[in-house]
Amino acid sequence: MAEWQRTHTCEQLREEHVGQTITLNGWVLTVRDNGHQIFIDLRDRYGLTQVVFNKADNAELFTQAKELKSEWVVSVTGLVRKRLEGAARADISTGEIEVEAKTLRVLNQCPPLPFEISEFGSELANEDLRLQYRYLDLRRRSLQKVLILRHRLCKVIRDYMDAHNFLEVETPLLGKSTPEGARDYLVPSRVFNGEFFALPQSPQLYKQLLMISGYDRYFQIARCLRDEDLRADRQPEFTQLDVEMSFVEREDVTGIMERLAVDIFDKCLGVKLSVPFPRLSYAEAMSKYGCDKPDLRFGLEIADITDIAGASEAQFFKDAVAAGGVIRAINAKGAAAAQDAKKAPLFSNTALKPGGELAKVTETYRAKGLAWLKVEGGKFTGSIEKFFSDELKAKLTERLGAVDGDLLLIVAGPESVVCDALGALRLHLAARLKLYRNWWEEKAEHDESEKKKADAAKKKKENYAPVPFQPRAEHFNFAWVLDFPMFGWDDEEKKWAAMHHPFTAPMDEDLPHFWQNESLGKVRAKAYDMVLNGYEVGGGSIRIHRQDVQSRVFEILGMNPEEAKARFGFLLDALQSGAPPHGGIALGLDRWAMIIAGTTNIRDVIAFPKNQRARDLMTGAPAQVDDRQLKELGVKLS
Ligand code: AMO
Repeated sequence: MAEWQRTHTCEQLREEHVGQTITLNGWVLTVRDNGHQIFIDLRDRYGLTQVVFNKADNAELFTQAKELKSEWVVSVTGLVRKRLEGAARADISTGEIEVEAKTLRVLNQCPPLPFEISEFGSELANEDLRLQYRYLDLRRRSLQKVLILRHRLCKVIRDYMDAHNFLEVETPLLGKSTPEGARDYLVPSRVFNGEFFALPQSPQLYKQLLMISGYDRYFQIARCLRDEDLRADRQPEFTQLDVEMSFVEREDVTGIMERLAVDIFDKCLGVKLSVPFPRLSYAEAMSKYGCDKPDLRFGLEIADITDIAGASEAQFFKDAVAAGGVIRAINAKGAAAAQDAKKAPLFSNTALKPGGELAKVTETYRAKGLAWLKVEGGKFTGSIEKFFSDELKAKLTERLGAVDGDLLLIVAGPESVVCDALGALRLHLAARLKLYRNWWEEKAEHDESEKKKADAAKKKKENYAPVPFQPRAEHFNFAWVLDFPMFGWDDEEKKWAAMHHPFTAPMDEDLPHFWQNESLGKVRAKAYDMVLNGYEVGGGSIRIHRQDVQSRVFEILGMNPEEAKARFGFLLDALQSGAPPHGGIALGLDRWAMIIAGTTNIRDVIAFPKNQRARDLMTGAPAQVDDRQLKELGVKLS
């Protein structure tokens, strides 16, 4: 070992090391100079150690230390000593000791960096800058913690899958298009000019082929690539825990994944989940919550009032019903009541007007208007109150459980618009009415109060070890959404589209509808989604294992037999060569990491993410290539 190399990490030293001469390697996080002593916090992946340079002990070394700047890489050899009374730090594991420097070696210098490696949210540099210098951003403790957590998550998954007889098999990145509903990333072939590989949107077809090959329990921590519009929980390049099993029914797949969730939450977060997770049908999810990935941490259910409001004198309600639409409402309980000493309700009438806070939410989802009623002094108030007879008011009161202080919010129109608008309004209201807490928000408050206690103790020269926050099962509401429609009508393209993917099996009892063109909208699929706190964290299905059924799906999706053969001939052949019944699922690993790490931004849990416009700001990819490369690939730019 060379002299400069570390004997310990920056997290390792404790009181038991006092008196030992040790060497640390790391980055200078902070430098504090009080004229007689220089203190540096030395950082590595494991933690922090305070190093002290004493002018009185070694003036030359002190002068050398004066040069140190943030983020220089150094080796320090020194003596471990106990910190002075009252100088101990309870918030770091090496807080009882410090290192009295004897030798300092600067391993590398750097000019002032584009931003400070800060730990605190409020001081973070803007995200674009941090993505451009991601290797610096990754030095932050909070990002280190996330990567460590992600490693742990994958380890728990691998151990669990191995213990349950699953084999990890890698599948190709260069392949043929696997339709998952997004655009493909294409790779031109140099050998076959004019032909393209598609990067996998998922390993879907390969895992099915593995079942046909007899590997009856497969998994893979797989990269998937989808060229689609990005959101806070979507990346063009993301990771799935991809799973497939043979000789199974839906409950086998959901059962094994639920127990995996229990294991993950126990080992990564110390949270004890209980199973089975609640199950609800797609139809129920849409009608009660307005979306297929409901956040079940709060109620605020949507109620259908088509029969009541449609019978009122309001022309816009009558028109909506006449056009085949629906009328639905949310009772925002207590939202019309005085909230504070000034007696202002949470939502003023302006919030309810077109363009106002609440109306804006529903307008975003194409709702024509947001109608409302308030309950005050046992009576309805609001401009549409006059359209309702006493009898209808009584019915409305009963249906919505309305009492004084409630605000009833009503949307009429085509069912899909009403679901989208009220689904979004429900989420908005829950946040404003504080109907749920994100565990990391509760943690931030808890940590703040523990810090205050530690600071107060320090003033009294006492020690206080902050109590770590422990998330609880109530912070995590899992559910399964089942019985999805098999096909959705694409009004723009004027054709049917697969709701999950085209390899999903129809429900046995819906097979008669499946073979008839007139009733395709009634066919339900053997598909299931796993949802957690309003996120879709997994999706899968029992697959088609009969060639005639698969061919029929391709036909329904508008492919003629030649096209189906050209695109999926290998699958159709394989289905005729002894395909077992099989099914599977894929979990969105990045989304799991987000929820477990306590962030709503998927980029926070990926080492080198793309920005919102699918660009890698660090390397500059995508980038232009030279003409020679294009020529070899037979590609001409237009
Ligand atoms: P699906 O398309 O539902 O199913 O994807 C499975 C899960 O992957 C996650 N996910 C994403 N995460 C981040 N960024 C994205 N762009 C993104 N897209 C999807 C979600 C989703 O639930 N082959 C099927 C699975 C199967 O049938 O077995 C599939 O890929 O959490």
